[in-house]
Amino acid sequence: MRHLARKQRVSTGTEALALFIGLSNVSSRKLGACTQCRYNSTGTKASGTVNIDGKPYPIDQWHNLSPNITSAISRKLHVQADHPISITRAIIESRFPGPTFKYHNNFFPIVSTQQNFDSLGFPADHPGRSKTDTYYVNQETVLRTHTSAHQADVFRANESEGWLISADVYRRDAIDRSHYPVFHQMEGARVWDRTRVANGDIATAVLKDIEALPKHSMKVEDPNPPTHPERNPLQKEHSLAEAEAIAAHLKHSLELVVVEIFSRAKAAAISANPDYVDEPLKVRWIEAYFPFTSPSWELEIFWQGDWLEVLGCGVVKQDIMEKAGQPRQLGWAFGVGLERIAMLLFEIPDIRLFWSKDDRFVGQFKGLSANLDNLRRFVPFSKFPACYKDVAFWLRSSSSSAGGGLGANSQDFHENDVMEIVRDIGGDVVEDVTKVDEFTHPKTGRKSLCYRINYRSLERTLTNEEANGYHDQVRKALVEKLGVELR
Ligand code: DAH
Repeated sequence: MRHLARKQRVSTGTEALALFIGLSNVSSRKLGACTQCRYNSTGTKASGTVNIDGKPYPIDQWHNLSPNITSAISRKLHVQADHPISITRAIIESRFPGPTFKYHNNFFPIVSTQQNFDSLGFPADHPGRSKTDTYYVNQETVLRTHTSAHQADVFRANESEGWLISADVYRRDAIDRSHYPVFHQMEGARVWDRTRVANGDIATAVLKDIEALPKHSMKVEDPNPPTHPERNPLQKEHSLAEAEAIAAHLKHSLELVVVEIFSRAKAAAISANPDYVDEPLKVRWIEAYFPFTSPSWELEIFWQGDWLEVLGCGVVKQDIMEKAGQPRQLGWAFGVGLERIAMLLFEIPDIRLFWSKDDRFVGQFKGLSANLDNLRRFVPFSKFPACYKDVAFWLRSSSSSAGGGLGANSQDFHENDVMEIVRDIGGDVVEDVTKVDEFTHPKTGRKSLCYRINYRSLERTLTNEEANGYHDQVRKALVEKLGVELR
């Protein structure tokens, strides 16, 4: 099975763009909960209630949220006028006009596991459900990991033939310049109803709608046939002509989004540098797998010498439409990460900048929401010095885990727990965390790990004392929360 997995770190030019939009960084193990106390293995409280955005939620041993994460809920960057995420949303929306398309921009991020996973056909053992990858309020309630969590509900409400949902989504993940535990996605869908098209002929109706879309001259590579019997099967409820027509409408609509974004990026580049020469725009369609579409694809853009994955999409599984009470409707859906597009559009080099309230960042986008034709590239303000600190520790040997209690051994250790601890303490002052060493002691079988943390503020120079202060707290928390032994 293939997820829209995020790419490995890539070359500097594209590093900023290496965001993921898929369920990534998967591992099938679950964190062991401590049976001896009221705390789970990352040290958070495991019973009682928490208040999130003014509402109480019961919590249990699955709870793994920190205030650091829940405080992002109120920010709603995708609807803040003049914020680059909001500007990017508006540009994409402009390619999907009303009344065919309705926009939903205010869905609350706390959803059930039924909405986030089950309604989309994720199997019970899907790694994306792991507590190391997903933020759980309690066993049945999560911070949505993708905007697809709302698909079934919006299909059920059946308010329009097409819709776009833009929202904040949450995933436990690595720390670097292109990954942040909160980011934004846009989900889109377009359906046709068998009872509402002429002669019930969906394929002809869709082809007619394709004719009405603007043309473009971008180079598109699409070497595979629309369906493949094993990898990308036609659904039994669809005729080949229907699936082909829907796929063609989907692909053409999304290609127009790419053209829209890149012509605006080009105009901004030319206004910054009249001698700017760009390479011709090129995209390609790649076969993909999602539990909720078939056939499915990813769209990649050739950008600064690399193919960049920007979105996932496909023909909506008929089972989803049926369960949503719309058995006569069929159509397409897509999901795109807004940070990745915004970083590309504005040349924003570090994902933390989106959360900055510093006027040197926000001030650069003033007035743009009111006039999307005036886009300007982001001009980086000074780059402050990096401050690297290492932390090395032993995990417990696997055999010593029998006693219960806190303490990560090689099996139940997960890197995302280190990331979370570092984020909780350093917040946006941490630019990057990388594993620099790993070995297993030949005699004791114990595993040793070393992580390098780069403390660098986007807004000011950190003193060494400040960085040491953060680092001491990180070291302490690793011992207290993961039970590791510092070296
Ligand atoms: N939800 C997917 C993700 O986050 C993205 C996606 C893929 C959305 C395909 C869709 C789709 O609607 O059809 O990885």
